[in-house]
Parts: sequence; C-alpha cells; structure tokens
Amino acid sequence: LNVVVLVSGGGTNLQALIDAVDSGSVANTKLAGVISNNRNAYALQRAADNGIPGICISPKDFATRDEFNVKFLDAVDTLSPDLIVLAGFLVVIPPAMIEKYRNRIINIHPSLIPSFCGTGYYGLKVHEAALKRGVKVAGATVHFVDEGTDTGPIILQKAVEVVQGDTPEVLQRRVMEQAEWKILPQAVGLIAAGRVEVEDGRVFIRE
Ligand code: GRF
Repeated sequence: LNVVVLVSGGGTNLQALIDAVDSGSVANTKLAGVISNNRNAYALQRAADNGIPGICISPKDFATRDEFNVKFLDAVDTLSPDLIVLAGFLVVIPPAMIEKYRNRIINIHPSLIPSFCGTGYYGLKVHEAALKRGVKVAGATVHFVDEGTDTGPIILQKAVEVVQGDTPEVLQRRVMEQAEWKILPQAVGLIAAGRVEVEDGRVFIRE
C-alpha cells in the first residue's frame, strides 16, 4: 500500500506510522511521501530522518486558493498514493481531491466523534472543550474524509480516561500516547490488509 501523509506540525502521528511500518506491525505498506503546508513542521524533519521524500506546499505560495488546490492535488497524484493519511493537517482538502480519492483519505481526530469535532475543533481546543464539559472519557477517532469536517465513516476509535485535575496539555498527551498513536497505524494496517469496507456510510472490518 502506497501511503502519503499530510502534516502541518510536530508529526508525532507520522512518527507512530513510521515506527509501525519499520517494526513490521503494519505490513505491506510503504510511506511514499510526506507533504506539509508548513516549511517549519518538525514532521518534515522526521520524514528526512527516515528517508521519506518531503514536500512543502502552502496556500501562501499561491495567488488564489484554486491555484493552490490544483498544484496540491498534482503533488499528491505524483506520489500515486493508494491511501492518503491526514495527520494533523490543517489545510482544507480540495473538493476535487475528496472526489478523486473517495474512501482513500483518512484522518486522525483527537476526540470520540461526534463529540468535540467540526470546524474550530483542532489541537488543544478539543481538550479544552472536553474538560469544560466535564466528560469522564476522551479519546481519538480515525475516519474516512468526506466533504464535511470530521464527518466521514468512522474506522476505529479508542477511549482514554479523563483524570481529575487534568490540564488540556496533559489530556492531549494521554490521548496522543494511548489512543492516536495506536489506532492510526492500526487503521493503516487494516486498510493495507484489505479488511476495511464502507457500506451505507458505516465501516465494517472483515475478519
Ligand atoms: C494531534 O493532536 C492530532 O490529534 C491532530 O493534530 C495533532 C497532530 O499532532 N490531528 P502531530 O503533528 O501528529 O504530532
């Protein structure tokens, strides 16, 4: 499975994927490239350290969003991905790309969707909202990407406990370590094994 990972930040989810592929816990998968909209993203350093081609392309480099969308999709196509993984990618995916790669784009979101998701819920904001609401469990979701924000078919979810006195940073770290970094590689492995089916907007994992 040829996988392209789209990133904007630190790349700890990318790292989890790299480690899972290297250790063999995710089989017949190749990380073909990393694309970031942020030239300072440490995720690009992680790609370089692991011999994975890294590309930086940002809407800021183009006069219009349409021009970016065309060039961005071109850059993705050039890597001929079987699967595109959004790992903390903060740029809206062009509609043409959603269409072209229907059910071949997945995203990791740091909450148990449909809680705390949708526009505006990214990074620490998700955990701030969870603590404000006083939820007793938090967690992460891997889902297919469709035209909406965090609205596509859910592939895997994993819950973590919320501990009294948690700060958003502490909760974020627990969600990343105990949930995100586990279910993202797991989801890629299931897709690489051809075990993930989408029917009527819901995901079925074949044995
Ligand atoms: C994580 O919080 C993840 O849940 C969200 O964006 C952040 C990405 O972090 N999708 P990293 O770049 O993978 O470290």
